[in-house]
Amino acid sequence: MHGNCTRIQNTGLADCPQGPPPGPRLLQPGWHRIGNSWYFSSRCSVPPGMNTWTSSRHPKGNAVNISKFVTPEIIFGRGSLSQIGESAARIGASKVFLVSDEGVIKAGWADMARKYLQTAGLETEVFSSLTTNPKDFEVTEGAQRYLASGCDALVAVGGGSPTDVAKAIAILASNGGRLQDYEGINKIVHPLPPMVIVPSTAGAGSEVSQFTIIVDTVRKLKMSIISKSLIPDIAIVDPELLQTKDSLLAAATGLDALTHGIESYVSLAATPLTDIHALKAIQLISRYLRRAVADRQDMEANTNMAMASLTAGMAFSNAILGATHAMTHQVDGLIDQHHGETNASILPHVMEFNLASAPERFRETAIAMGEEVAGLDTLAAAALSIRAVKGLIRDIGLAKGLSQLGLQEEFIPLLSRNALKDACLVTNPRSASFEDIVAIFRKSM
Ligand SMILES: [Fe+2]
Repeated sequence: MHGNCTRIQNTGLADCPQGPPPGPRLLQPGWHRIGNSWYFSSRCSVPPGMNTWTSSRHPKGNAVNISKFVTPEIIFGRGSLSQIGESAARIGASKVFLVSDEGVIKAGWADMARKYLQTAGLETEVFSSLTTNPKDFEVTEGAQRYLASGCDALVAVGGGSPTDVAKAIAILASNGGRLQDYEGINKIVHPLPPMVIVPSTAGAGSEVSQFTIIVDTVRKLKMSIISKSLIPDIAIVDPELLQTKDSLLAAATGLDALTHGIESYVSLAATPLTDIHALKAIQLISRYLRRAVADRQDMEANTNMAMASLTAGMAFSNAILGATHAMTHQVDGLIDQHHGETNASILPHVMEFNLASAPERFRETAIAMGEEVAGLDTLAAAALSIRAVKGLIRDIGLAKGLSQLGLQEEFIPLLSRNALKDACLVTNPRSASFEDIVAIFRKSM
């Protein structure tokens, strides 16, 4: 910290435009780079708005022993889509902006949601002009439509894309400006309209999270917008909706949920409350993802994957993520592949990089994935978590390198520079330099 830096009230952090002193690591203990801003904290190494739980994973042992855990009201179970009308009415809606996508509309779920909303006496306006890896201009159009429609609440029925678009529309509709103004942590000032979210995939966890992830089409990267304001009022998780997704989508979304579970479990901002949810998610995904991919009508597998996605969402919403997501956010913005597939290419290599920084945590991950660790030392047991993840990725058909997904080697330096600015890197258990990220990208090709 320097003489001319400003302390941020009530946070223990200082806004330091100059950044840290020169050194081999861009993320030195106490320093955080979020977007284009540098922050310094003498207390701990996690940024404002995140948990500050004291643990052996903290580089500083003097972190404040206080944590918080935020989550919406959750309605879970087969047939729970029927609760959507009563739920929207209960949070004060009279006319609902229903965000969905073409696949969900074709499957009939959006129509069913609309009928339940109408039965509850609510008018609806449907918006579905969005794509996989949703784009900033789609959100701008959605916000204009929302404001012109006279709607007073948002409901999303769909996967991570409609959900993230609904949240981003809520930001622009109530706070104005451009989405880029809200990139990073805790930039949203005014309250958002009421929101109900119904996921149709088991993976994104956006129905319970403080995140929305939108592609900046000029910079060709995914922006992470993180704020407690983005947690919807009500999440309705109905496993019936999962049946109409194909096997590839089930595999990719399930692998995304596994990445959420593992990254939040080894995160520097993990707490006992997030640990419970992260480990449960890892365990359920290890048991049920293969079945869910093999038979899309297996409702026991679908129900457990819906629960896994939900618990992984609660874990990462509160503990944040790590280097895998800091890197996939850049790749997804460039080559427009499914986020779960890019996670599958990168996750095992990030785990190898992180292994020695959180060996006990990776040992617990291996146990949750059903590995036999008796008689092994901690590091050997921890390494089994990587073997288990690779085996699962292979079995569900996602064992592809980034080059197979369409990434060209020449983009690695650009993607690595951008990954260093991603908020998710701050909570990775091992500090990563530009050279480290480049090396992980090369191994993931
Ligand atoms: Fe993700």
